[in-house]
Amino acid sequence: VNKQGLLYEGKAKKIYTTSDEQLLWVEYKDDATAFNGEKKGTIQGKGRFNNLISAALFTHLTQAGVANHFERLLSEHEQLVRKVRIVPVEVVVRNLAAGSMAKRLGLEEGWELPRPVLEFYYKDDQLGDPLIIEDHIDVLGLASPEQVEQMKTVALKVNQLLSRYFAGRDIILVDFKLEFGLTDDGQLLLADEISPDTCRLWDRHTRDKLDKDRFRRDLGGVEEAYQEILKRVGGEAHV
Ligand code: C5P
Repeated sequence: VNKQGLLYEGKAKKIYTTSDEQLLWVEYKDDATAFNGEKKGTIQGKGRFNNLISAALFTHLTQAGVANHFERLLSEHEQLVRKVRIVPVEVVVRNLAAGSMAKRLGLEEGWELPRPVLEFYYKDDQLGDPLIIEDHIDVLGLASPEQVEQMKTVALKVNQLLSRYFAGRDIILVDFKLEFGLTDDGQLLLADEISPDTCRLWDRHTRDKLDKDRFRRDLGGVEEAYQEILKRVGGEAHV
């Protein structure tokens, strides 16, 4: 397939149409934002790290039977994906309390939750991606109740698969965010990216943060953390 016009440029990616109507060409950028765009910067090599890490994780999910948009890598910072209409709902799964949940509920960061917790956020920059409940998704028409059930089932399955996958690499999957999309024929696919930008990943032994919290909280060693995750998922072997 050939790359065609720029369809969309977001905070972390550029998306191009291709000669195949059903496929999109995604270019991962080094730009980093946090707190709904209030904090901006660049993370050297992030585009490459996230492209390769996300490809490795989606490949693992494909092998486990999770329907998703990933087709194949095109280069170290580009990949080919199925074209979908993104459902404007972010699905967050948490295993340990951290980030906004720890803050909102007054919990100690790192508290092990008795069971995985699932949250929905409305993908809307103007509103700052507010936490929403299933009734909101329904009355706003963001997704049907059947699609919500499917997203919940897939999100919990992905949590099981990736928790085990990362545990085998001495990493704790603290929490992560997923996005879903609909194909032209109405199939719901896991979409977007899964990377240190969208997951909290802690070293099992040292509990060092190996994710975007290093950028959000100015902890330093951001590039090294992404490099470490790439190394542990063996992502360099895929391109
Ligand atoms: O900030 P919060 O604790 O709600 O984030 C939960 C998880 O979702 C984190 O792993 C974070 O990286 C991810 N997330 C994301 N994109 C957002 C908000 C959160 O990838 N817009």
